[in-house]
Amino acid sequence: MSDQPPPHLPTAFGNYQNDIYLRALGGVLPDLPMTFAELEARAAQALPPSVMSYVAGGAGDEATQRANAEAFAHWGLYPRMFVGARERDLTVDLFGTTWPSPLFMAPIGVIGLCAQDGHGDLATARAAARTGVPMVASTLGNDPLEDVAAELGGTPGYFQLYTPTDRDLAESLVRRAENAGYAAIVVTLDTWVTGWRPRDLASGNFPQLRGHCLANYFTDPVFRRLLGRHPQDDPQGAVLLWTRIFGNALTWDDLTWLRSLTRLPLIVKGICHPDDARRAKDGGVDAVYCSNHGGRQANGGLPALTVLPEIVAAADGMPVLFDSGVRSGADMVKALALGATAVGLGRPYAYGCALGGTDGIVHVLKSVLAEADLIMAVDGYPSRADLTPDSLRPLP
Ligand SMILES: Cc1cc2nc3c(=O)[nH]c(=O)nc-3n(C[C@H](O)[C@H](O)[C@H](O)COP(=O)(O)O)c2cc1C
Repeated sequence: MSDQPPPHLPTAFGNYQNDIYLRALGGVLPDLPMTFAELEARAAQALPPSVMSYVAGGAGDEATQRANAEAFAHWGLYPRMFVGARERDLTVDLFGTTWPSPLFMAPIGVIGLCAQDGHGDLATARAAARTGVPMVASTLGNDPLEDVAAELGGTPGYFQLYTPTDRDLAESLVRRAENAGYAAIVVTLDTWVTGWRPRDLASGNFPQLRGHCLANYFTDPVFRRLLGRHPQDDPQGAVLLWTRIFGNALTWDDLTWLRSLTRLPLIVKGICHPDDARRAKDGGVDAVYCSNHGGRQANGGLPALTVLPEIVAAADGMPVLFDSGVRSGADMVKALALGATAVGLGRPYAYGCALGGTDGIVHVLKSVLAEADLIMAVDGYPSRADLTPDSLRPLP
């Protein structure tokens, strides 16, 4: 038996355009952007420059970051006629729970700072509650994971773990996530060290070193024990301790331990090689998450979308979560056709958060879902199962 999405949540996603047109008849035009380009441009006005460059920037000259988004343009969807796709079913079953759609919010460590009130983690959880779009909460939150979970309102939340070098601390974070009701643990593998990020280097900006987004550590009993006092009594020492224990350069030998940490579904994020997907599956993970961290970690890499089909093949029936470069509903549909089980949105919802907090995120999510739904309507794909690699043709 799978849990059904709460009935109050909308599933006819395309209707969002009717809401917008009808409001316009009453003289009310959307005050939030309708395109990614405008979203990014207006977020740049709304955010402090240091936060904007942290969110918008990537590794090296950002070629991989751009390639992630551009990779979607190398595919086109065949339109199919006489299908009569009046209703679309975008639901997806993941680990025994039915999501209203395959869209989710990827973990964003500084989402807290993106909100004007500094509580973007809570705003994201509230947007999840309002839309049914699941949230992956980062370890690097501005609010403790328990407070975030309390705002999810029945929508699934996953907890993303940056595995610290101290195993007791790792276990404590996982246990807290379990107790708070998160439905899966996502272990991010590609960020045990920060990639070379010229924009942030030029401004000397690294939010965590300034004590931001460390709430999960500072509220943790194991972290406090390691520090030997309350973080409030020694903020500098607390940040210093964090720098020493943040990054764990995991090897395959650690997977057995990671697997033993929880009975919740375990997902490994950053998988972009089919051999790694196979080995992770053999190691007992429940899903792999194909992502190159939005090109923030290593420049000169392959676009995540390019490797997605290989990962899906290697996963051999195991769920594959995907992100990196998704900017629209059209992108979401293409990732689904290439085999993603669920598609993660990153920077766009951070910009929505900057412009309107929870309302801004809700608008971004509804816009992506409406476009995806309407593409499936127009092009004759009534369900996710109808979207296959054969639905796409590579462009010259
Ligand atoms: C500002 C920022 C912070 C991020 N923080 C995290 C994080 O804490 N944990 C994590 O696993 N991924 C993190 N990511 C990566 C996202 O989960 C996701 O992989 C990425 O945003 C996808 O690329 P896109 O936003 O260009 O689509 C972050 C991304 C951004 C933009």
